[in-house]
Amino acid sequence: MKKAIYPGTFDPITNGHVDLIKRTAAITDELIVGVLVNKNKKPMFTEDERVEMIKDAVKDLENVRVITFEGLLADLAKQEDAVVIRGLRNAGDFEYELPMAQGNCVLEPGVETLFIAAAPEWAFLSSSMVREIASFGGDISKLVPEKAAQMVKDRTNNC
Ligand code: PNS
Repeated sequence: MKKAIYPGTFDPITNGHVDLIKRTAAITDELIVGVLVNKNKKPMFTEDERVEMIKDAVKDLENVRVITFEGLLADLAKQEDAVVIRGLRNAGDFEYELPMAQGNCVLEPGVETLFIAAAPEWAFLSSSMVREIASFGGDISKLVPEKAAQMVKDRTNNC
């Protein structure tokens, strides 16, 4: 496969995301990780902070590029001539993802979405779960990459 884009909010990046990035990078020439800039949401981390923690987590992967994007994913995928990658953890993800993939197809015919099954060991994991555990002082070191864990702890302690 030539080029793929893995879009998301990554607030923060989790070990599940990293697993998907590694597995996708192994089967593509180039993988773009696209961090959504969403002015309507108030994330825990700014887009620059999210890019920083993702870049650190993927620093050993030579064919992975991390960017921010605003607006429609379909536009970005067309502009980059890339296949969209999304992970599926469960049936709930599928119900959420299928209309999005179909919507992107209608917006930009030719933009395809490929679903990759989440690794079973990370199928329970989400960024919101990480934020919640951290907010109660729980240990997130087994759930997110090292730099992300430090940044989440720092942010949680300072709020
Ligand atoms: O990690 P997330 O929050 O599940 O990622 C969702 C994301 C960023 C993939 C999705 O919200 C998205 O593509 N947003 C960009 C806006 C867009 O294209 N919306 C129309 C989809 S049909």
